Amino acid sequence: MPVIAILGAQWGDEGKGKVVDQLSEEASMVIRFSGGDNAGHTVINPHGEFKLHIVPSGIFYPTTTCLIGNGVVINPARLIGEIDNLNNSGIDTGRLVISDRAHLVMPYHTLLDELEEKSRAGKAIGTTLRGIGPAFTDKTARLGIRAGELLDKKGLLERLSSIMEFKNKLLTKVYGADPLSIEVVFQQYCQYGERLAPHIKDTATLIQTALANDELIILEGAQGALLDPDFGTYPYATSSSPLSGGACLGSGISPKCIDRILGVFKAYCTRVGGGPFPTELNDEMGDLIREQAHEFGTTTGRPRRCGWFDAVAARFSHQINGFTGIALTRLDVFDILPELKICTAYKFNGKIIDYFPAGATDLEKCQPVYEELDGWQSDTTHIREFDELPAKAKKYIARLEESIGCRTNIVCVGPRREQTIESSPVL
Ligand code: GDP
Ligand code: IMO
Ligand code: MG
Repeated sequence: MPVIAILGAQWGDEGKGKVVDQLSEEASMVIRFSGGDNAGHTVINPHGEFKLHIVPSGIFYPTTTCLIGNGVVINPARLIGEIDNLNNSGIDTGRLVISDRAHLVMPYHTLLDELEEKSRAGKAIGTTLRGIGPAFTDKTARLGIRAGELLDKKGLLERLSSIMEFKNKLLTKVYGADPLSIEVVFQQYCQYGERLAPHIKDTATLIQTALANDELIILEGAQGALLDPDFGTYPYATSSSPLSGGACLGSGISPKCIDRILGVFKAYCTRVGGGPFPTELNDEMGDLIREQAHEFGTTTGRPRRCGWFDAVAARFSHQINGFTGIALTRLDVFDILPELKICTAYKFNGKIIDYFPAGATDLEKCQPVYEELDGWQSDTTHIREFDELPAKAKKYIARLEESIGCRTNIVCVGPRREQTIESSPVL
Protein backbone atom coordinates (compact mmCIF):
# COMPACT_ATOMS: atom_id res chain seq x y z
CA MET A 1 0.00 0.00 0.00
CA PRO A 2 1.34 3.41 -0.88
CA VAL A 3 1.98 6.71 0.80
CA ILE A 4 -0.18 9.46 -0.73
CA ALA A 5 0.36 13.17 -0.13
CA ILE A 6 -2.79 15.28 -0.58
CA LEU A 7 -1.75 18.88 -1.05
CA GLY A 8 -3.23 22.33 -1.55
CA ALA A 9 -2.19 23.44 -5.04
CA GLN A 10 -3.36 27.08 -5.00
CA TRP A 11 -3.78 29.57 -2.13
CA GLY A 12 -5.41 27.15 0.31
CA ASP A 13 -9.06 26.17 0.86
CA GLU A 14 -9.09 23.96 -2.23
CA GLY A 15 -11.11 21.25 -0.47
CA LYS A 16 -8.27 19.17 1.00
CA GLY A 17 -10.41 18.19 4.01
CA LYS A 18 -13.12 16.74 1.80
CA VAL A 19 -10.65 14.78 -0.34
CA VAL A 20 -8.73 13.43 2.67
CA ASP A 21 -11.98 12.36 4.35
CA GLN A 22 -13.09 10.65 1.16
CA LEU A 23 -9.83 8.76 0.64
CA SER A 24 -9.11 7.86 4.28
CA GLU A 25 -11.41 4.88 4.58
CA GLU A 26 -8.64 2.41 3.82
CA ALA A 27 -5.81 4.41 5.34
CA SER A 28 -4.15 3.06 8.43
CA MET A 29 -2.73 6.51 9.15
CA VAL A 30 -3.45 10.14 8.24
CA ILE A 31 -0.68 12.60 9.10
CA ARG A 32 -1.01 16.40 9.16
CA PHE A 33 2.48 17.66 8.41
CA SER A 34 2.49 21.48 8.35
CA GLY A 35 0.79 24.68 9.46
CA GLY A 36 -1.29 24.89 12.59
CA ASP A 37 -4.79 26.07 13.42
CA ASN A 38 -4.55 28.65 10.63
CA ALA A 39 -5.91 25.77 8.54
CA GLY A 40 -9.63 25.14 8.34
CA HIS A 41 -10.64 21.88 6.69
CA THR A 42 -14.33 21.30 6.11
CA VAL A 43 -15.59 17.75 6.15
CA ILE A 44 -19.22 16.86 5.46
CA ASN A 45 -19.95 13.17 5.90
CA PRO A 46 -22.62 10.96 7.48
CA HIS A 47 -21.44 12.10 10.97
CA GLY A 48 -22.25 15.76 10.23
CA GLU A 49 -20.40 18.89 9.18
CA PHE A 50 -17.02 19.56 10.79
CA LYS A 51 -14.42 22.32 10.61
CA LEU A 52 -11.08 20.76 11.49
CA HIS A 53 -8.12 23.01 12.23
CA ILE A 54 -5.45 20.71 13.66
CA VAL A 55 -6.99 17.24 13.91
CA PRO A 56 -6.38 15.26 10.68
CA SER A 57 -9.41 14.71 8.46
CA GLY A 58 -9.19 10.91 8.76
CA ILE A 59 -10.57 11.04 12.33
CA PHE A 60 -14.02 9.76 11.29
CA TYR A 61 -12.83 6.21 10.55
CA PRO A 62 -12.57 3.92 13.58
CA THR A 63 -9.40 2.13 12.47
CA THR A 64 -7.42 5.09 11.16
CA THR A 65 -4.65 6.52 13.34
CA CYS A 66 -4.56 10.30 13.06
CA LEU A 67 -1.19 11.80 13.66
CA ILE A 68 -0.22 15.45 14.17
CA GLY A 69 3.27 15.50 12.73
CA ASN A 70 6.47 17.19 13.86
CA GLY A 71 5.99 19.89 11.21
CA VAL A 72 2.77 21.23 12.76
CA VAL A 73 2.60 23.99 15.38
CA ILE A 74 -0.07 23.23 17.95
CA ASN A 75 -2.15 25.63 19.99
CA PRO A 76 -3.04 23.20 22.81
CA ALA A 77 -6.13 25.13 23.94
CA ARG A 78 -7.56 25.04 20.43
CA LEU A 79 -6.63 21.39 19.94
CA ILE A 80 -8.38 20.45 23.20
CA GLY A 81 -11.45 22.45 22.08
CA GLU A 82 -11.44 20.55 18.79
CA ILE A 83 -11.13 17.17 20.53
CA ASP A 84 -14.04 18.09 22.83
CA ASN A 85 -16.21 19.15 19.87
CA LEU A 86 -15.52 15.90 18.06
CA ASN A 87 -16.24 13.85 21.19
CA ASN A 88 -19.50 15.77 21.72
CA SER A 89 -20.49 14.73 18.20
CA GLY A 90 -19.78 11.09 19.05
CA ILE A 91 -16.41 10.91 17.25
CA ASP A 92 -13.77 8.88 19.08
CA THR A 93 -10.40 10.65 19.28
CA GLY A 94 -8.58 7.83 21.06
CA ARG A 95 -6.49 7.24 17.91
CA LEU A 96 -5.14 10.78 17.84
CA VAL A 97 -1.37 10.91 18.24
CA ILE A 98 0.72 14.05 18.66
CA SER A 99 4.39 14.07 17.71
CA ASP A 100 6.54 14.93 20.70
CA ARG A 101 8.60 17.02 18.27
CA ALA A 102 5.69 19.28 17.20
CA HIS A 103 6.12 22.85 18.43
CA LEU A 104 3.55 24.64 20.57
CA VAL A 105 1.84 27.93 19.86
CA MET A 106 2.26 29.98 23.05
CA PRO A 107 0.16 32.96 24.22
CA TYR A 108 2.97 35.36 23.27
CA HIS A 109 2.87 34.01 19.70
CA THR A 110 -0.76 34.95 19.16
CA LEU A 111 -0.17 38.30 20.81
CA LEU A 112 2.91 38.99 18.66
CA ASP A 113 1.07 37.94 15.48
CA GLU A 114 -1.49 40.66 16.21
CA LEU A 115 1.11 43.29 17.16
CA GLU A 116 3.26 42.51 14.10
CA GLU A 117 0.24 42.76 11.80
CA LYS A 118 -0.70 46.14 13.33
CA SER A 119 2.86 47.40 12.86
CA ARG A 120 2.73 46.47 9.15
CA ALA A 121 -0.07 49.06 8.79
CA GLY A 122 -1.10 49.26 5.08
CA LYS A 123 1.18 46.32 4.25
CA ALA A 124 -0.44 43.79 6.57
CA ILE A 125 -0.18 40.17 5.41
CA GLY A 126 -3.70 39.42 6.54
CA THR A 127 -2.63 36.48 8.70
CA THR A 128 -5.17 34.35 10.53
CA LEU A 129 -3.85 35.89 13.81
CA ARG A 130 -3.30 32.37 15.19
CA GLY A 131 0.34 32.99 16.13
CA ILE A 132 1.61 30.79 13.30
CA GLY A 133 4.39 33.07 11.98
CA PRO A 134 5.83 33.82 15.46
CA ALA A 135 5.68 30.11 16.42
CA PHE A 136 7.62 29.00 13.33
CA THR A 137 10.03 31.91 13.85
CA ASP A 138 10.78 30.57 17.34
CA LYS A 139 11.19 27.03 16.02
CA THR A 140 13.90 28.21 13.64
CA ALA A 141 15.42 30.52 16.24
CA ARG A 142 15.60 27.56 18.65
CA LEU A 143 13.31 29.35 21.07
CA GLY A 144 10.38 27.00 20.57
CA ILE A 145 8.73 24.71 23.09
CA ARG A 146 7.81 21.26 21.82
CA ALA A 147 4.87 19.03 22.73
CA GLY A 148 7.21 16.52 24.40
CA GLU A 149 8.32 19.20 26.86
CA LEU A 150 4.81 19.30 28.33
CA LEU A 151 5.62 15.91 29.90
CA ASP A 152 8.47 17.30 32.03
CA LYS A 153 7.19 20.13 34.24
CA LYS A 154 10.55 21.02 35.79
CA GLY A 155 12.27 21.27 32.42
CA LEU A 156 9.31 23.19 31.00
CA LEU A 157 9.45 25.81 33.75
CA GLU A 158 13.16 26.31 33.20
CA ARG A 159 12.93 26.84 29.44
CA LEU A 160 9.67 28.79 29.60
CA SER A 161 11.13 31.20 32.19
CA SER A 162 14.17 32.10 30.11
CA ILE A 163 12.18 32.34 26.85
CA MET A 164 9.42 34.42 28.42
CA GLU A 165 11.84 36.81 30.04
CA PHE A 166 13.02 37.64 26.55
CA LYS A 167 9.49 37.68 25.07
CA ASN A 168 8.28 40.04 27.79
CA LYS A 169 11.08 42.48 26.91
CA LEU A 170 9.96 42.30 23.29
CA LEU A 171 6.32 42.86 24.23
CA THR A 172 6.95 45.77 26.58
CA LYS A 173 9.99 47.57 25.10
CA VAL A 174 9.34 47.13 21.36
CA TYR A 175 5.55 47.03 21.23
CA GLY A 176 4.62 48.89 24.44
CA ALA A 177 2.31 46.01 25.39
CA ASP A 178 1.78 44.45 28.83
CA PRO A 179 4.03 41.57 29.87
CA LEU A 180 2.61 38.06 30.32
CA SER A 181 2.85 36.22 33.63
CA ILE A 182 5.29 33.30 33.43
CA GLU A 183 3.51 31.56 36.31
CA VAL A 184 0.08 31.82 34.66
CA VAL A 185 1.35 30.52 31.31
CA PHE A 186 3.27 27.73 33.06
CA GLN A 187 0.20 26.58 35.03
CA GLN A 188 -1.98 26.75 31.93
CA TYR A 189 0.45 24.66 29.87
CA CYS A 190 0.85 22.13 32.69
CA GLN A 191 -2.91 21.58 32.55
CA TYR A 192 -2.82 21.20 28.76
CA GLY A 193 0.05 18.76 29.20
CA GLU A 194 -1.94 16.61 31.62
CA ARG A 195 -4.88 16.53 29.23
CA LEU A 196 -2.83 15.80 26.10
CA ALA A 197 -0.24 13.45 27.67
CA PRO A 198 -1.93 10.21 26.49
CA HIS A 199 -1.67 11.45 22.89
CA ILE A 200 1.94 12.71 22.91
CA LYS A 201 4.36 10.11 21.54
CA ASP A 202 7.50 9.54 19.59
CA THR A 203 5.74 9.16 16.25
CA ALA A 204 8.83 8.04 14.31
CA THR A 205 8.42 4.43 15.46
CA LEU A 206 4.70 4.37 14.66
CA ILE A 207 5.30 5.73 11.18
CA GLN A 208 8.21 3.40 10.44
CA THR A 209 6.12 0.41 11.53
CA ALA A 210 3.25 1.45 9.23
CA LEU A 211 5.72 1.87 6.36
CA ALA A 212 7.33 -1.50 7.05
CA ASN A 213 3.89 -3.15 7.08
CA ASP A 214 3.07 -1.52 3.73
CA GLU A 215 0.01 0.20 5.14
CA LEU A 216 -1.78 3.07 3.37
CA ILE A 217 -0.58 6.39 4.79
CA ILE A 218 -2.09 9.74 3.81
CA LEU A 219 -0.11 12.93 4.30
CA GLU A 220 -2.63 15.74 4.74
CA GLY A 221 -1.46 19.15 3.56
CA ALA A 222 -2.54 22.48 4.97
CA GLN A 223 -2.56 25.82 3.12
CA GLY A 224 -1.50 25.74 -0.54
CA ALA A 225 1.60 25.89 -2.74
CA LEU A 226 1.23 29.60 -3.51
CA LEU A 227 1.45 30.36 0.23
CA ASP A 228 4.76 28.51 0.56
CA PRO A 229 7.39 30.76 2.20
CA ASP A 230 9.94 29.96 -0.55
CA PHE A 231 7.84 29.60 -3.69
CA GLY A 232 4.62 31.42 -2.82
CA THR A 233 3.80 35.10 -3.11
CA TYR A 234 6.38 36.15 -0.52
CA PRO A 235 6.05 38.01 1.83
CA TYR A 236 2.31 37.32 1.51
CA ALA A 237 2.85 33.73 2.50
CA THR A 238 2.50 31.42 5.46
CA SER A 239 5.43 30.17 7.55
CA SER A 240 5.73 26.43 6.83
CA SER A 241 5.92 24.51 3.59
CA PRO A 242 2.69 23.08 2.17
CA LEU A 243 4.65 21.37 -0.65
CA SER A 244 5.47 17.69 -1.23
CA GLY A 245 8.96 18.42 0.14
CA GLY A 246 7.32 19.87 3.25
CA ALA A 247 5.30 16.65 3.61
CA CYS A 248 8.55 14.68 4.02
CA LEU A 249 10.05 17.13 6.50
CA GLY A 250 6.89 17.56 8.52
CA SER A 251 6.29 13.84 8.99
CA GLY A 252 9.74 12.26 8.90
CA ILE A 253 8.92 10.18 5.81
CA SER A 254 11.59 9.88 3.13
CA PRO A 255 10.81 11.21 -0.38
CA LYS A 256 11.62 7.67 -1.58
CA CYS A 257 8.52 6.39 0.24
CA ILE A 258 6.00 8.77 -1.32
CA ASP A 259 4.15 7.03 -4.14
CA ARG A 260 1.42 9.48 -5.08
CA ILE A 261 1.16 13.25 -4.85
CA LEU A 262 -2.38 14.48 -5.34
CA GLY A 263 -2.72 18.21 -6.01
CA VAL A 264 -6.06 19.61 -4.88
CA PHE A 265 -7.26 22.46 -7.12
CA LYS A 266 -10.59 24.21 -7.19
CA ALA A 267 -12.13 24.86 -10.58
CA TYR A 268 -11.32 28.57 -10.01
CA CYS A 269 -9.06 30.47 -7.57
CA THR A 270 -9.55 32.06 -4.18
CA ARG A 271 -7.32 33.62 -1.60
CA VAL A 272 -7.86 35.14 1.84
CA GLY A 273 -5.61 37.82 3.26
CA GLY A 274 -3.38 40.20 1.33
CA GLY A 275 -1.05 39.66 -1.60
CA PRO A 276 -1.10 39.55 -5.38
CA PHE A 277 -3.80 37.57 -7.18
CA PRO A 278 -3.60 38.09 -10.96
CA THR A 279 -7.01 36.62 -11.88
CA GLU A 280 -8.94 38.26 -9.03
CA LEU A 281 -12.43 39.39 -10.04
CA ASN A 282 -13.28 42.66 -8.32
CA ASP A 283 -16.65 42.77 -10.00
CA GLU A 284 -20.10 41.19 -10.08
CA MET A 285 -18.67 37.88 -11.34
CA GLY A 286 -16.38 37.70 -8.30
CA ASP A 287 -19.35 38.42 -6.03
CA LEU A 288 -21.45 35.82 -7.83
CA ILE A 289 -18.83 33.10 -7.37
CA ARG A 290 -18.38 34.06 -3.68
CA GLU A 291 -22.11 33.89 -3.02
CA GLN A 292 -22.74 30.78 -5.12
CA ALA A 293 -19.83 28.92 -3.51
CA HIS A 294 -20.15 30.42 0.01
CA GLU A 295 -16.51 31.46 -0.18
CA PHE A 296 -15.97 32.66 3.37
CA GLY A 297 -12.93 31.60 5.43
CA THR A 298 -13.33 28.41 7.48
CA THR A 299 -10.99 29.71 10.20
CA THR A 300 -11.62 33.46 10.23
CA GLY A 301 -14.96 33.88 8.41
CA ARG A 302 -13.38 36.49 6.12
CA PRO A 303 -14.83 36.77 2.59
CA ARG A 304 -12.49 34.98 0.21
CA ARG A 305 -11.24 36.86 -2.84
CA CYS A 306 -12.41 35.00 -5.96
CA GLY A 307 -11.06 34.79 -9.52
CA TRP A 308 -10.75 32.63 -12.64
CA PHE A 309 -8.51 29.57 -12.77
CA ASP A 310 -4.87 30.61 -13.09
CA ALA A 311 -3.12 27.98 -15.21
CA VAL A 312 0.24 29.79 -15.02
CA ALA A 313 0.22 29.50 -11.23
CA ALA A 314 -1.16 25.95 -11.49
CA ARG A 315 1.68 24.81 -13.78
CA PHE A 316 4.19 26.29 -11.35
CA SER A 317 2.48 24.52 -8.46
CA HIS A 318 2.77 21.23 -10.41
CA GLN A 319 6.47 21.88 -11.12
CA ILE A 320 7.40 22.45 -7.47
CA ASN A 321 5.23 19.59 -6.14
CA GLY A 322 5.50 16.92 -8.85
CA PHE A 323 1.83 15.94 -8.79
CA THR A 324 0.96 12.45 -9.97
CA GLY A 325 -2.70 13.46 -10.24
CA ILE A 326 -5.20 16.23 -9.58
CA ALA A 327 -8.30 16.37 -7.41
CA LEU A 328 -10.47 19.07 -8.97
CA THR A 329 -13.07 20.39 -6.54
CA ARG A 330 -16.07 22.70 -6.83
CA LEU A 331 -16.78 22.05 -10.48
CA ASP A 332 -20.49 22.42 -9.61
CA VAL A 333 -19.97 26.09 -8.70
CA PHE A 334 -19.77 26.77 -12.45
CA ASP A 335 -23.04 24.95 -13.24
CA ILE A 336 -24.91 28.25 -13.74
CA LEU A 337 -22.32 30.24 -15.71
CA PRO A 338 -22.70 30.76 -19.49
CA GLU A 339 -19.00 31.42 -20.02
CA LEU A 340 -15.74 30.55 -18.23
CA LYS A 341 -12.19 31.84 -18.44
CA ILE A 342 -8.79 30.26 -17.87
CA CYS A 343 -5.68 32.42 -17.50
CA THR A 344 -3.04 30.82 -19.75
CA ALA A 345 -0.32 33.52 -19.62
CA TYR A 346 0.46 36.90 -18.07
CA LYS A 347 1.18 40.22 -19.71
CA PHE A 348 4.13 41.65 -17.79
CA ASN A 349 5.91 44.89 -18.72
CA GLY A 350 4.47 44.69 -22.24
CA LYS A 351 5.60 41.10 -22.81
CA ILE A 352 3.66 37.82 -22.67
CA ILE A 353 5.16 35.47 -20.09
CA ASP A 354 4.17 31.96 -19.07
CA TYR A 355 6.07 31.71 -15.77
CA PHE A 356 5.16 32.71 -12.20
CA PRO A 357 7.39 35.62 -11.07
CA ALA A 358 9.22 35.28 -7.75
CA GLY A 359 8.41 38.70 -6.34
CA ALA A 360 5.04 39.91 -5.13
CA THR A 361 5.76 43.31 -6.73
CA ASP A 362 6.26 41.73 -10.16
CA LEU A 363 3.21 39.52 -9.78
CA GLU A 364 1.13 42.61 -8.90
CA LYS A 365 2.00 43.97 -12.34
CA CYS A 366 0.93 40.82 -14.21
CA GLN A 367 -2.26 41.08 -16.25
CA PRO A 368 -4.02 37.80 -17.01
CA VAL A 369 -4.31 36.62 -20.62
CA TYR A 370 -7.51 34.61 -20.88
CA GLU A 371 -8.87 31.80 -22.96
CA GLU A 372 -12.67 31.64 -22.99
CA LEU A 373 -14.76 28.50 -22.86
CA ASP A 374 -18.48 27.82 -22.92
CA GLY A 375 -20.20 26.98 -19.65
CA TRP A 376 -22.36 23.83 -19.49
CA GLN A 377 -25.29 25.42 -17.65
CA SER A 378 -26.68 22.23 -16.16
CA ASP A 379 -26.67 20.62 -12.71
CA THR A 380 -23.69 18.34 -12.06
CA THR A 381 -24.18 17.82 -8.32
CA HIS A 382 -25.87 14.41 -8.71
CA ILE A 383 -23.33 13.00 -11.20
CA ARG A 384 -21.04 10.19 -9.98
CA GLU A 385 -19.56 8.89 -13.29
CA PHE A 386 -17.11 10.95 -15.32
CA ASP A 387 -18.74 9.99 -18.64
CA GLU A 388 -22.04 11.45 -17.45
CA LEU A 389 -20.62 14.97 -17.06
CA PRO A 390 -21.81 17.46 -19.73
CA ALA A 391 -19.46 17.55 -22.76
CA LYS A 392 -18.59 21.20 -22.05
CA ALA A 393 -17.62 20.37 -18.45
CA LYS A 394 -15.37 17.59 -19.74
CA LYS A 395 -13.84 20.06 -22.18
CA TYR A 396 -13.15 22.53 -19.35
CA ILE A 397 -11.47 19.77 -17.32
CA ALA A 398 -9.44 18.65 -20.34
CA ARG A 399 -8.18 22.23 -20.88
CA LEU A 400 -7.15 22.46 -17.23
CA GLU A 401 -5.34 19.11 -17.45
CA GLU A 402 -3.59 20.17 -20.64
CA SER A 403 -2.52 23.54 -19.32
CA ILE A 404 -1.26 22.14 -15.98
CA GLY A 405 0.32 19.08 -17.58
CA CYS A 406 -1.29 16.54 -15.25
CA ARG A 407 -4.42 14.35 -15.28
CA THR A 408 -7.33 14.47 -12.87
CA ASN A 409 -7.93 11.47 -10.64
CA ILE A 410 -10.89 12.99 -8.83
CA VAL A 411 -13.57 15.55 -9.70
CA CYS A 412 -15.82 16.89 -6.93
CA VAL A 413 -19.32 18.16 -7.64
CA GLY A 414 -20.42 19.09 -4.13
CA PRO A 415 -19.16 19.33 -0.55
CA ARG A 416 -20.49 15.98 0.67
CA ARG A 417 -18.28 12.89 0.81
CA GLU A 418 -20.26 11.07 -1.87
CA GLN A 419 -20.29 14.01 -4.32
CA THR A 420 -17.10 12.68 -5.82
CA ILE A 421 -16.24 11.27 -9.24
CA GLU A 422 -13.16 9.10 -9.79
CA SER A 423 -12.04 10.13 -13.27
CA SER A 424 -8.97 7.88 -13.17
CA PRO A 425 -7.53 5.74 -10.36
CA VAL A 426 -5.67 7.61 -7.59
CA LEU A 427 -3.52 4.56 -6.83
P1 GDP B 1 -9.52 23.05 2.74
O1 GDP B 1 -8.95 24.04 3.67
O2 GDP B 1 -8.66 22.82 1.52
O3 GDP B 1 -9.89 21.75 3.38
O4 GDP B 1 -10.88 23.70 2.17
P2 GDP B 1 -12.00 24.47 3.04
O5 GDP B 1 -12.75 23.49 3.83
O6 GDP B 1 -11.41 25.63 3.74
O7 GDP B 1 -12.86 25.09 1.88
C1 GDP B 1 -13.41 24.28 0.88
C2 GDP B 1 -14.92 24.46 0.88
O8 GDP B 1 -15.44 23.87 -0.30
C3 GDP B 1 -15.62 23.78 2.02
O9 GDP B 1 -16.73 24.56 2.39
C4 GDP B 1 -16.08 22.45 1.43
O10 GDP B 1 -17.24 21.93 2.06
C5 GDP B 1 -16.41 22.89 0.03
N1 GDP B 1 -16.26 21.89 -1.04
C6 GDP B 1 -15.31 20.94 -1.22
N2 GDP B 1 -15.47 20.33 -2.40
C7 GDP B 1 -16.56 20.91 -2.97
C8 GDP B 1 -17.22 20.73 -4.22
O11 GDP B 1 -16.84 19.94 -5.07
N3 GDP B 1 -18.31 21.53 -4.47
C9 GDP B 1 -18.76 22.45 -3.57
N4 GDP B 1 -19.81 23.18 -3.90
N5 GDP B 1 -18.14 22.65 -2.41
C10 GDP B 1 -17.06 21.89 -2.11
P1 IMO C 1 -6.18 25.72 4.69
O1 IMO C 1 -5.38 24.55 5.21
C1 IMO C 1 -6.22 29.78 3.13
C2 IMO C 1 -3.20 32.54 4.67
C3 IMO C 1 -3.71 33.69 5.51
C4 IMO C 1 -2.68 34.75 5.15
C5 IMO C 1 -1.41 33.93 5.03
C6 IMO C 1 -0.54 33.97 6.28
O2 IMO C 1 -7.54 25.83 5.26
O3 IMO C 1 -6.15 25.74 3.20
P2 IMO C 1 -0.80 32.77 8.64
O4 IMO C 1 -1.90 32.83 9.65
O5 IMO C 1 -0.54 31.40 8.10
O6 IMO C 1 0.46 33.44 9.10
O7 IMO C 1 -1.33 33.68 7.41
O8 IMO C 1 -1.79 32.60 4.77
N1 IMO C 1 -3.63 31.19 5.14
C7 IMO C 1 -4.57 30.46 4.54
N2 IMO C 1 -5.38 30.75 3.50
N3 IMO C 1 -6.29 28.56 3.72
C8 IMO C 1 -5.46 28.24 4.73
O9 IMO C 1 -5.40 27.00 5.25
C9 IMO C 1 -4.58 29.23 5.22
N4 IMO C 1 -3.67 29.26 6.22
C10 IMO C 1 -3.08 30.46 6.15
O10 IMO C 1 -5.01 34.05 5.15
O11 IMO C 1 -2.98 35.27 3.86
MG1 MG D 1 -9.46 25.87 4.55
